[in-house]
Amino acid sequence: MGTVVTVTPRPRRAVCPGSYDPVTSGHLDVIERAAALHDELVVVVLHNPGKAGTFTVEERIGFVERALAGRGVANVRVEAFAQRLLVDVCRELGADVVVKGVRGTTDVAYEWPMALMNRGLSGIETLFLPGDPAFEHVSSSLVKEVARWGGDVTGLVPDEVRDALVARLDADG
Ligand code: PNS
Repeated sequence: MGTVVTVTPRPRRAVCPGSYDPVTSGHLDVIERAAALHDELVVVVLHNPGKAGTFTVEERIGFVERALAGRGVANVRVEAFAQRLLVDVCRELGADVVVKGVRGTTDVAYEWPMALMNRGLSGIETLFLPGDPAFEHVSSSLVKEVARWGGDVTGLVPDEVRDALVARLDADG
């Protein structure tokens, strides 16, 4: 009689890394689609404690968490790491895959060597998801610049982020 071996498959865990200062609607679209393709997704907020961002790490995490809760996305958690290689973060989290949203060939050209480097360092693969064309022009830095000079960024970021940007920029003068 043969031996029956039951193998419980390991959950497929992916990471979506970035600065998320702040999260945009383009990020959220990619996060939601990446979550649908994996058992678990970790949004990894990578930051440099020596460099002041527009928002604190805690604020960035809160923006992502509340936006995802509002969209009913359940298999995602958000974690922050500082001054670490992405591949070491992936190893610590037990993640197999990095998912990056790309808004076009410029993003691909920028991301390509990082994907190869990360695979060379660790074997971890990077999947590129084409961003929704509706957000092709949207980046955290551009949204901040538009908001700084009084432009309306409604729809480009969650409403909470828009309001926080306006309040932050008012406070900064
Ligand atoms: O939102 P961003 O700023 O485009 O995110 C870039 C980020 C943080 C994902 C990238 O700079 C990164 O992976 N940094 C971690 C350090 C690292 O592993 N560097 C080597 C990449 S080959």
